[in-house]
Amino acid sequence: MTQKILLTGGAGYIGAHTYVALSKAGFEPVILDNFSNADRDTPARLAQLTGKACLCHDCDLLDSDGLDAVFAAHDFAATVHFAAYKAVGDSVARPQAYFNNNMGGLINLLGAMERHDLGRIVFSSSATVYGDCDQQPIPETAPLSATNPYGLSKLVGEQMLGQMQVAHPDWAISILRYFNPVGLHKSGLLRLSPEETTQPPENLMPRLIEVAKGTRKQLSVFGDDYDTPDGTGLRDYIHVEDLARGHVLALQALITTDESHTVNLGTGQGYSVLEMIAAFAAACGRDIPYTIAPRRAGDVARCYADVSHAKAVLGFETEFGLNEMCADSWVA
Ligand code: UFG
Repeated sequence: MTQKILLTGGAGYIGAHTYVALSKAGFEPVILDNFSNADRDTPARLAQLTGKACLCHDCDLLDSDGLDAVFAAHDFAATVHFAAYKAVGDSVARPQAYFNNNMGGLINLLGAMERHDLGRIVFSSSATVYGDCDQQPIPETAPLSATNPYGLSKLVGEQMLGQMQVAHPDWAISILRYFNPVGLHKSGLLRLSPEETTQPPENLMPRLIEVAKGTRKQLSVFGDDYDTPDGTGLRDYIHVEDLARGHVLALQALITTDESHTVNLGTGQGYSVLEMIAAFAAACGRDIPYTIAPRRAGDVARCYADVSHAKAVLGFETEFGLNEMCADSWVA
């Protein structure tokens, strides 16, 4: 029998890509989304991409009754919890909103899981939980810390799940720490239209796209005096399709072994901002003017994953390299 998987935030960027990968792998994903940072057309596009009707509930995770109704309507094998606010700078300006939405949403979801006797969850965490880490590449055993309200919401989310595990030793919990997701499904159908985006982009890739399109004059490179080969920040960019496949493997591991795990999802390779500019300019065939600006508060010099545990536990290895990540990010 096809297993139904609840995807909270399933209409968002990573959620929608994971929807396609799960559907391809033989699961039946069901979306719950309040469309606060997702395109209303996404379910229709997912139906087009998968050739199957898209089950989608327009529901806010803070609405416990609505959540109960969704759980009552389906027999879920697991949930993947994407739904959360995710912009670091925004979180510094609106900490309460992040605590309410990210921690409150998880609390409600965990309550619904207990009431409906569902003990499998994949949690979208982030490399942000490593803070400014001395160990590079970063193993999952590195010390954890939070440097902003968004990071705190992810760290506390992981800790809440740790306590749920104590109370429910039979639960199978997957914590996936994403590095820097970029790229798009090759169809171009899963691009978020700018008018649907409520959070202005502060990440490198959306800004590179804006500069290539001419809607932003130039890219500000935040600091060229870091202790890195060219002085600009090094990050572990991972193609969203690889990331989506990581979720499929995590779910399969939970379902077949009923054992919990915490893994990094990255490539293990760090690229600098200047390397990203050059690769993106080559991919779109346009100049990317840039200027060196002061360091951005809270940024770290380098952040890339030790990927050995993900390979050992999930058999996860990335397929896409930098050129494909840039080419697939560019939809003119
Ligand atoms: N950068 C620029 N100019 C820009 C935007 C970014 O130079 O206009 C630089 C940053 O300084 C950094 C690199 O590009 O060196 C990547 O920056 P992003 O904002 O794209 O990503 P971050 O690594 O800062 O943050 C990302 C996610 C967070 C997550 C973190 C965890 O956005 O949600 O990775 O590793 F917490």
